Amino acid sequence: MEGHYMSGYRVFMVILFLHAWFATSVVLARSSPTKRFNFTVEWREVTRLCHTKRLLTVNGEYPGPTIDVHEGDRVEVVVFNNVERNTTIHWHGIKQFRTGWADGPAYITQCPIRANHSYTYRFKVTRQRGTLFWHAHLGWQRASVHGAFIVRPRSSSSYPFPPVHAEVPIILGEWWNVDTEAIESDTIRYGSGPNVSDAYTINGMPGPYYPCSNQDTFTHIVEHGKTYMLRIINAALNNELFFAVENHTLTVVEIDAAYVKPFATSAIMIAPGQTTSVLVTTNTKPGTFMLAARPYVSATIPFNPTTAIGFISYSTNRVPASREHGDLTFLPPMQDTAFATQFSNNLRSLDSTEHPCKVPKEVDKRLFITISLNLQDCCSNCICKGFTGKRFSASMNNQSFTRPATSILESYFKNTMDAKLINSFPERPPHPFNYTGPSTLDMKLNTEFGMRLVAVPHGTRLEFVLQDTSLVNAENHPIHVHGHNFFVVGRGFGNFEEGRDRAGFNLVDPPERNTVAVPSGGWAAIRFKADNPGMWFVHCHLETHTTWGLAMGFIVRDGPKASQQLLPPPEDFPPC
Ligand SMILES: *[C@@H]1O[C@H](CO)[C@@H](O)[C@H](O)[C@H]1NC(C)=O
Ligand SMILES: *[C@@H]1O[C@H](CO)[C@@H](O)[C@H](O)[C@H]1NC(C)=O
Ligand SMILES: *[C@@H]1O[C@H](CO)[C@@H](O)[C@H](O)[C@H]1NC(C)=O
Ligand SMILES: *[C@@H]1O[C@H](CO)[C@@H](O)[C@H](O)[C@H]1NC(C)=O
Ligand SMILES: *[C@@H]1O[C@H](CO)[C@@H](O)[C@H](O)[C@H]1NC(C)=O
Ligand SMILES: *[C@@H]1O[C@H](CO)[C@@H](O)[C@H](O)[C@H]1NC(C)=O
Ligand SMILES: *[C@@H]1O[C@H](CO)[C@@H](O)[C@H](O)[C@H]1NC(C)=O
Repeated sequence: MEGHYMSGYRVFMVILFLHAWFATSVVLARSSPTKRFNFTVEWREVTRLCHTKRLLTVNGEYPGPTIDVHEGDRVEVVVFNNVERNTTIHWHGIKQFRTGWADGPAYITQCPIRANHSYTYRFKVTRQRGTLFWHAHLGWQRASVHGAFIVRPRSSSSYPFPPVHAEVPIILGEWWNVDTEAIESDTIRYGSGPNVSDAYTINGMPGPYYPCSNQDTFTHIVEHGKTYMLRIINAALNNELFFAVENHTLTVVEIDAAYVKPFATSAIMIAPGQTTSVLVTTNTKPGTFMLAARPYVSATIPFNPTTAIGFISYSTNRVPASREHGDLTFLPPMQDTAFATQFSNNLRSLDSTEHPCKVPKEVDKRLFITISLNLQDCCSNCICKGFTGKRFSASMNNQSFTRPATSILESYFKNTMDAKLINSFPERPPHPFNYTGPSTLDMKLNTEFGMRLVAVPHGTRLEFVLQDTSLVNAENHPIHVHGHNFFVVGRGFGNFEEGRDRAGFNLVDPPERNTVAVPSGGWAAIRFKADNPGMWFVHCHLETHTTWGLAMGFIVRDGPKASQQLLPPPEDFPPC
């Protein structure tokens, strides 16, 4: 896990050869190296909490293999599907300039990779560096099919913080004792809320607070007096999480592969789809210290109130104790919205000379998008297990997204798409109401189903105001945008108010990310330049909500220059 950090000697060498480097950098840029990986999607018997089950994995690993590349590299991943189910892989947060065919969401940018078939994802990693992850993007497969995707700075450029001794990927996840496909299909059949997971995990391990899990505890031996970088990834399906290291301060340096102004914190809040790199210095009295993850709960819904525990150890005997239920006061309480809010407010783009913050100061197009849960009447002869005997669904601007039977990107590219769907997504809520008003269970809570899109010219500067609603239940929603990073220019509670709230936007150093946690009963405003031609999915990264239709899509048209146009689909592109 030793990082590729520059020693003082290497820094000296770099300075020595800086001039030579500038002279040759054009040549180097053209010959970016290709990093190749083989991913086989296959079953593996895995035991946790005394339950052995067949788990969907990549290369038999849980979590899956780490992809470790440099900014500027080309990446080729051959994904071979060795199971009887369909699959796809998404490179979460990778911008995929002109290569939307490699983005991965099933039926959005590609048809699935069928059993005994393969598809090679080819893309270049540009204009980003830091911690990301990859995961399956079909149904709930990402529960176990996920791994770290690390983008190191170009070898010519170093981190904007002091060198670290080593790096430790920390993948937070959820474990179910049964096949998650059964949970997903129950959710769909009964229109119900899903069964909550049986455990939270740190690098696939639940830790000693769960039944018969002492041996399934993530443990990392560290040295005293060093600084480590934890690359933290929330790969959980349905839970925002708090994460902390006992008796150690975390210094946040990067989120979603974008640098931030470093700040110290006792814990982080991390939503599904988000990543956070923190520095930890092992400078207390040597010992064995807990790493802990448990949910941040922002709604009155069923949740599993347990805690995943791992350890870092720099004690003299170096044997991490499996401790009795200890003092977890180093973690915020599970309903601590004040902590989650303060943590998010501390996030600012680094905005340095080398990494300027390119937030659009003006915008060309604004969308105001409500985020709602909904309830549909039960069909006759059906069993419905949502609230009040109905079926749950979810929507954006009262449109619940239903995916087609083919790839949207492909039908857009081949011009076989129903033209009425393009630019038919409502740009404001069809019927304005008090979005965050009192309980709404007596209101009409049904929604419309379909696939409506927004289309914008290349280079359009977009603003989305994402407004949570209290329809059914207010909740914190992590909204993920594919193909682009965006800037979170504002957040607040209650209803977004045009004059008051836009005046308060941060247009200097707002955080740049790919997934924003929209406050429960509040709003978040994001801005970005739509400069990546293709068709891009926008959805809640709480997997249940995507199942229920909390999604939309937008098309970025080709620009006039060749470099602004979507490339044609690759030859091995999977058919439907
Ligand atoms: C991937 O698998 C192919 C075929 O088995 C093999 O030739 C190639 O070396 C492998 N590549 C990597 C990076 O493991
Ligand atoms: C995949 O290949 C294996 C081995 O050839 C075969 O047993 C299996 O039936 C195939 N599965 C599908 C769905 O084609
Ligand atoms: C979900 O939980 C219920 C109640 O415990 C149980 O009856 C049901 O079998 C569970 N569903 C699945 C798919 O395990
Ligand atoms: C953490 O710090 C507290 C307060 O200083 C101390 O009582 C406790 O023993 C420390 N925990 C460990 C594991 O060293
Ligand atoms: C919306 O509902 C909230 C909560 O009841 C209330 O405080 C607020 O005044 C309402 N806003 C409007 C514009 O009616
Ligand atoms: C959403 O659409 C449904 C179906 O057209 C309608 O009955 C409902 O009132 C709409 N809700 C809102 C909040 O616009
Ligand atoms: C896999 O996807 C194809 C294309 O959408 C579909 O026809 C087929 O039924 C799917 N197979 C399975 C096992 O779900």
